[in-house]
Amino acid sequence: MIIDGKQAAADLRKTLAIEVAQLKKDKNITPSLTVVLVGEDPASQIYVRNKVKQTREVGMISSEIKLAVDTTQEQLLEQLEQLNNDNSVHGILVQLPLPKHIDESVIIAAIAPHKDVDGFHALNSGRLLNGEKGALVPCTPQGCLILAKKHLGEDLSGLHAVVIGRSNIVGKPVALLLLQEHCTVTITHSRTKNLAEICRQADILIAAVGRPNFVQASWVKKGATVIDVGINRIEDENGKGKLVGDVDFAAVEKVCGAITPVPGGVGPMTIACLLKNTVEAARANA
Ligand code: GUN
Repeated sequence: MIIDGKQAAADLRKTLAIEVAQLKKDKNITPSLTVVLVGEDPASQIYVRNKVKQTREVGMISSEIKLAVDTTQEQLLEQLEQLNNDNSVHGILVQLPLPKHIDESVIIAAIAPHKDVDGFHALNSGRLLNGEKGALVPCTPQGCLILAKKHLGEDLSGLHAVVIGRSNIVGKPVALLLLQEHCTVTITHSRTKNLAEICRQADILIAAVGRPNFVQASWVKKGATVIDVGINRIEDENGKGKLVGDVDFAAVEKVCGAITPVPGGVGPMTIACLLKNTVEAARANA
């Protein structure tokens, strides 16, 4: 089975549009998201354009602040302080990666935690770690979980989830979410020994390494649920650019029980979950 992330994201946006309309009617609040983009990285420009478009489509307010590539860290911090203090802004997202002269960790720490719709601030990641309510949870991990449940149903307890990758954006938070769902969780990474053998034990396999076609069919247990977080741009045999995931899709599809495609899997869910976080931030701070 192929898990359709595009459809799941459209379903989630439909639900969110209803919630946005209800918030307007009941409390006269329109959730609002501001995206800050520093520089002109082409991939980031596409992501930001999609975020702005979809935010508006569900009836929310979307603003975009474009800053020059030579913006200083101080200037960016001043911009964030202004947004933190602006009551009409419910969610703030600073598109990553930032230019090299800006320290990402300083910028993430400067976003008001209750407006941190990426869920990257230490207060939000700490809350997730502690299993506390009220955390804004990173978007891609939320999307992974929703897609895994599309195939497996709501109850994931006792399943063995193997995560490949340990980033703060995907690997670590998705492992914590799966633990909350009572999975047995193994986090693997570039130094892991016997990676294939560990992956073969997975009921749920999450690939978030950023290496094209890295996960082989021989690493996948028959019937496993495979969630492919990779977005890798490669050249096909005719020299044309195309997107592939971290999983050798054609081969793995024949062994697994269900798999997310690239594109059309986790990617669309990430943006839909960003909208969900913005609605939650607006509701919590109304
Ligand atoms: N760049 C790539 N993915 C992300 C994300 O989830 N959030 C932000 N802010 N930047 C990104």
